[in-house]
Amino acid sequence: MISQTGYPLFKPLPAEGATPETALARIWFNDQPLAVPTGRSVAAALLAAGVSRFRATPVSGSPRAPYCMMGACFECLVEIDGVPSRQSCMVEVKDGMRIRSQEGARDLPPVKADLPETVHGR
Ligand code: FES
Repeated sequence: MISQTGYPLFKPLPAEGATPETALARIWFNDQPLAVPTGRSVAAALLAAGVSRFRATPVSGSPRAPYCMMGACFECLVEIDGVPSRQSCMVEVKDGMRIRSQEGARDLPPVKADLPETVHGR
């Protein structure tokens, strides 16, 4: 948001203890390397880098992007370091993160075939 003076109303603070060398995190989004500012969420970092499609819905495949930026809407789900369904607005970006857009429903964990018999059957 730009004020009437032409200056931004909000200016990101540098990450605590950040030096010019540590002010940028090198991450990957869908195998594309990006250099993003540290001290913000994964969602904010990806948006600042120009990423606008974070996931696709399981039903229609329509593209989605962060909406609330406070953990309420779940529109920002991505896979971070191999863990699916992470709310990218609630995770601080770290150097070396590997992030992937989440396409449709996440994969389910493998079914254990050797589960013990229960009173209700398997
Ligand atoms: S943007 Fe709404 S939960 Fe992340």
